[in-house]
Amino acid sequence: MELKGKVCLVTGASSGIGEATAEGLGALGASVVAVMRDKSPKAESAMRKIEAGSRDGGGSVSAMYADLSSQSSIRRLAQDFEKRFDRLDVLINNAGVSPWKRHTTTDGLELTFAVNVLAPFLLANLLLGRLKASAPSRIVNVSSAAAGGTIEFDDLQGEKKYSMFAAYGKSKLALNVLTVELARRLQGTGVTANFLHPGVVRTNLARDMNPVAQALTSLVKPFMASPKKGSRTSIYVATAPELEGVSGKYFSGGKEATAPKGSYDGAAAKRLWEVCEQLTEKPASGE
Ligand SMILES: NC(=O)c1ccc[n+]([C@@H]2O[C@H](COP(=O)([O-])OP(=O)(O)OC[C@H]3O[C@@H](n4cnc5c(N)ncnc54)[C@H](OP(=O)(O)O)[C@@H]3O)[C@@H](O)[C@H]2O)c1
Repeated sequence: MELKGKVCLVTGASSGIGEATAEGLGALGASVVAVMRDKSPKAESAMRKIEAGSRDGGGSVSAMYADLSSQSSIRRLAQDFEKRFDRLDVLINNAGVSPWKRHTTTDGLELTFAVNVLAPFLLANLLLGRLKASAPSRIVNVSSAAAGGTIEFDDLQGEKKYSMFAAYGKSKLALNVLTVELARRLQGTGVTANFLHPGVVRTNLARDMNPVAQALTSLVKPFMASPKKGSRTSIYVATAPELEGVSGKYFSGGKEATAPKGSYDGAAAKRLWEVCEQLTEKPASGE
């Protein structure tokens, strides 16, 4: 894909895979919108790296700030984006969390579900107008090979039982299922939606783990992939010309792969889509 003049929005650009993805897209000449939680020193340092990459490749970068655990903040982000940009060619929902303990958001929802599932759902729906008007365009959802378990409709918020590993795996399974449903709804619009596993990557994702799990993680960190390597599948799915029109697929290791079990459960997808609409009070779109 020729990236000059293309607008690519990446969430979670302040760190890890998102930062490397934004930097990589800028280096390919894109106009990158780097979405970060706030203007922290960490975010500013990431911006400097992304800007340097963009300068080298003839791209540009603009920072936008939003707390993706807050639906009003996501709505503000979408409104501000639409005021500033008249097109959106690639939306990469990359931000994610894996909190060790259960937390609730300002909207009263469990944090993992809010950030990993509802934020990509809401942001994609709010920006669909721009994506459709810029078609062919792409939605890329960063999931995980750890997606698994079952979508427990009677305890989506982990109120009855919470463990980090289960909450994270289920949130990524929910993201997969919603991506497939979104791809189905977007058939014929020129907007595609795919999901991926970035690899096992050395990032800040495990920062909320308890000290024992953190110590174990630090032992294996040297064997993990760099964020730059971890960004390759995202950049491939976002830009590869041969993926034009390919939708509802799962990618890992830079190629199409067999999706985690349950990702193509159509009944769960329809039910979860409705629940997400209710939880975000967002009317159906794409159909
Ligand atoms: N690392 C791996 O091995 C691995 C494997 C499979 C999948 N993944 C997925 O890859 C994606 C990127 O994660 P990473 O590994 O690069 O971890 P990371 O370094 O922790 O990056 C996560 C990003 O998400 C942002 N974020 C989290 N909560 C947010 C919120 N409420 N509002 C705004 N931004 C928020 C973080 O911002 P702050 O810096 O402000 O917290 C950060 O920029 C995630 O979806 C993760 O699930 C990672």
